[in-house]
Amino acid sequence: MIASLANAGGAAVPAQDETVAAFDPGDWASVQAQFKLSPELVHISNFFLASNPKPVRDAMARHRQAFDENPYTYLEDNMFAKPEDMVWRKVCEAAAAYTGGRAEDIALTTSTTQGLAMVYNGLKLAPEQEILTTSHEWYTHDEAMRLAVAKWGGSIRRIDLYQGPQDVSVEAIVARIEAAIRPSTRILAMTWVHSGTGVRLPVKEIGDLVARLNRDRTEAQRIIYVIDGVHGFGCSEAQVASLGCDFFSAGTHKWILGPHGTGVVWAREGQWAHIIPTIPTIMAAEPANAWRQERAPQGDTQAAWVSPGGFLAFENQWALIEAFQFVEKIGRKRIADRVAELNGQLKEGLAKLPNVYLHTPQAAQFSAGIVCCDVKGWAPKDVVAKLKAQNIIASATPYRHSTVRFSAGIVNTSQDIDKTLQAMRTFA
Ligand SMILES: Cc1ncc(COP(=O)(O)O)c(C=O)c1O
Repeated sequence: MIASLANAGGAAVPAQDETVAAFDPGDWASVQAQFKLSPELVHISNFFLASNPKPVRDAMARHRQAFDENPYTYLEDNMFAKPEDMVWRKVCEAAAAYTGGRAEDIALTTSTTQGLAMVYNGLKLAPEQEILTTSHEWYTHDEAMRLAVAKWGGSIRRIDLYQGPQDVSVEAIVARIEAAIRPSTRILAMTWVHSGTGVRLPVKEIGDLVARLNRDRTEAQRIIYVIDGVHGFGCSEAQVASLGCDFFSAGTHKWILGPHGTGVVWAREGQWAHIIPTIPTIMAAEPANAWRQERAPQGDTQAAWVSPGGFLAFENQWALIEAFQFVEKIGRKRIADRVAELNGQLKEGLAKLPNVYLHTPQAAQFSAGIVCCDVKGWAPKDVVAKLKAQNIIASATPYRHSTVRFSAGIVNTSQDIDKTLQAMRTFA
């Protein structure tokens, strides 16, 4: 349960945003009315960067006004004065209510990328150990591993999990990963939803495989399972704590609809102890006390020690509470069902077009809120430009093989999908 934090930080300042009709989380039109998206456009790139709903905008405005009026006292009172008044702890509570697990196992970051970098830089590999990952990772995930290995040693091996949507099944994916794991595999790095194909991996079943293989391994050889979860976090029903992973990084400025420059890393209880922090924190007393007393920090690394300091855009970080409350009010299952319904309608329509090749599986089990396709005879960027000229905002993926990418979210209607399909029919 998320604590009531409408006045997080105790700011006695009014909301600054315009008035919109009361929020009824059970009514999609009312949900859509909470956003300020330009109504003349079809916004079908919702995976990218969130438009913030009214409760989040109001919370940011409230914090910003308080900072503008008295920055020293507002930060001192809400960040440093008393442990029970630290707003970041309340952000972690709101995040943990969503991920499952404990608030003290949440680290606060500014993006998926930053969280992944903190994890790979913090986990030291022995020279003979490797990270096993895939050829489907987004650049910043792959690069976070490469940079960590370049500094600390060890190696990276990348495998293909599928060539096309026809290859995607639980059995096939799990079997490919099992066949690739070696005794030297120390980290298994996966992504929940691939942003280059739209494929959603069976991350829980992969977690079951890791648990089975770890039964025969010592603690020093145990496979550490890391997930880039950003495109499942906020549009899938499964709770992070149930996936069987050790570390899970996700920006909260995409599907959670939170302020820009916010994110979380969740770790399974006990896993933070494996991490050496990369960036000094200001969210925990012990590292700073140790510095003042000229000694090493005592005890195991905790999530808060891995939350990067120094001062941040606190008006954004703290308004993340309202973003988690907003999606929880609508309901994770309702959001997951809605995302599946709208993207399902899109995939069904695209599959009927003879010149379109869909990279994303039709089955909702293997896709979430991203739909990727090729249009025969057309470069993806030209498709996107032609759609934009018709006020439809799609994207071309910046992967080695670029595709046309759509992403329907709770801000969309079935009419948006119809308009997109109508435009796609003109590429014959
Ligand atoms: C799969 C995947 N991981 C990570 C990122 C980067 O996310 P962030 O901007 O939160 O670092 C992206 C970007 O959309 C992505 O597609």
